Amino acid sequence: MKILAIDTSCDESCAAILDTESWSLLADVVYSHSERMEAWGGVVPEVASREHLKALPLAVTDALKHAGLRADEIDHIAVTHRPGLIGALLVGVTYAKSLAYALQKPYSIHDHLQAHLFSPLLATLEGEKVPAFPWIALVVSGGHTELFLAESVTEVRWLGGTLDDAAGEAFDKIGKLLGLPYPAGPRIDRWVREQATEADRIRFAFPRSKPERYHFSFSGLKTSVANQIAKLRTPSDADRLALAASAQEAIIDPLVDRMKFSQQSLGVHQMVVTGGVACNSRLRQRLSGAFFPPPKHCSDNAAMVALLAALLHKEGKLEVAPWTATPLAHAELA
Ligand code: KG4
Ligand code: ZN
Repeated sequence: MKILAIDTSCDESCAAILDTESWSLLADVVYSHSERMEAWGGVVPEVASREHLKALPLAVTDALKHAGLRADEIDHIAVTHRPGLIGALLVGVTYAKSLAYALQKPYSIHDHLQAHLFSPLLATLEGEKVPAFPWIALVVSGGHTELFLAESVTEVRWLGGTLDDAAGEAFDKIGKLLGLPYPAGPRIDRWVREQATEADRIRFAFPRSKPERYHFSFSGLKTSVANQIAKLRTPSDADRLALAASAQEAIIDPLVDRMKFSQQSLGVHQMVVTGGVACNSRLRQRLSGAFFPPPKHCSDNAAMVALLAALLHKEGKLEVAPWTATPLAHAELA
């Protein structure tokens, strides 16, 4: 079966094609609109929807071209329907439905967080070994910071998540306070890696909030950084670097802490980390015992959606969606 997958949950128009017979990825196209969002200092939902309208048809056309397939050679269409920006999701879901209807092929709807969660298994498409279940899985992105226990592709338990901002959002908002363009996460990562010292990482003692058990909270940190910047009045470049390094440590500490706590309390050894923030080099260093997919599989892509559909198909659990299916802004956790 050849699966065409589509993801438009945030500001990337993604299309991928996976062949379940050869268990290989035939195309993996990502058109990012994050540069377009730089001018606004963040994702503007309306602008993202309009960008998807233009870019998604091109992404699908390119995916078919890379795969050397005609549209009518696709057997199934898989699309992300939640969670995400509602207008952005609507473009992807409507496109997938229309294509499925025109081609008279079945389509299925998928959860973006679940797709991120199983993205470590994309390595199997390259013949590589992946960690065996059960996993403690952290999905950490611009919109989510959620912890799961995954016992198999169909047995996933949500353990907890952020009570306010996501870790990626904290990186982006703190970066904005420091005058960095959107998305600030990768910029803070590189700046700190290339220029900060160990002293910079501990110069500012930002709070590590500790909500109960498996939860996270990052909004207090952002306020604390803002207060510190106000106290410094006109921070020098050296101050700004130390602010970035200390804030990065304050975002990463609770992530590491909760992963280790989950490992111990559940008696599960294997940890996996995915989502855009899983690209962070310091997080990779601090959680060196965890499995991290390569960066291109951590940030938004449709290959992970195609894989989720293929894994469900293998288990006989891929459900065809009705024409009445609609996107949802929020995740269905717990
Ligand atoms: O998963 P993703 O591509 O999109 C969703 O939010 O679903 O994640 C994007 C987020 C942004 O907040 C971005 O700043 C953050 O991931 N990010 C990073 C790094 N690369 C991306 N944060 C810290 N360090 C990085 N290297
Ligand atoms: Zn994502």
